[in-house]
Amino acid sequence: MPKAPEGALGCHAPKAGSLDLISNATKFGAGAPIDVEVFDKEGEVCLIVGDRGPGIADHEREKIFKRFERAGSSPPQSGFGVGLWLVRQIVDALGGTVHVNSALGQGATFTIALPRNYNA
Ligand SMILES: Nc1ncnc2c1ncn2[C@@H]1O[C@H](COP(=O)(O)OP(=O)(O)OP(=O)(O)O)[C@@H](O)[C@H]1O
Ligand SMILES: [Mg+2]
Repeated sequence: MPKAPEGALGCHAPKAGSLDLISNATKFGAGAPIDVEVFDKEGEVCLIVGDRGPGIADHEREKIFKRFERAGSSPPQSGFGVGLWLVRQIVDALGGTVHVNSALGQGATFTIALPRNYNA
């Protein structure tokens, strides 16, 4: 099994972001297995979290990164709608990117990419 990159996800801020993605995949993932991958790619450290839940509609994919915003699929699950907002704040501050690929009924895959040499 490949060794996870050291350091980059070992400090508190990125770890908090990773945990929200994993928490969301568990919470919204309809009880199906989730996939988590961490790897180096061309000077970046990438984290990918994928689930097999209800997915996120086109018009909600940007909205969910705003503070206190939740998608239509979420009311039965607990939460305040701050996790992804926080993830984006952290990732922006570290010079990285976060995005989601999803379609309704086809799960969701979130990707964080952080520069390998960021200062946290
Ligand atoms: N993996 C996912 N599948 C489907 N919808 C998701 C997924 N992750 C996030 N969402 C949607 O995005 C919304 C915002 O996510 P966010 O993590 O910010 O809030 P939350 O999980 O509802 O609450 P909090 O993180 O504050 O406890 C969620 O309420 C949900 O509607
Ligand atoms: Mg959350």
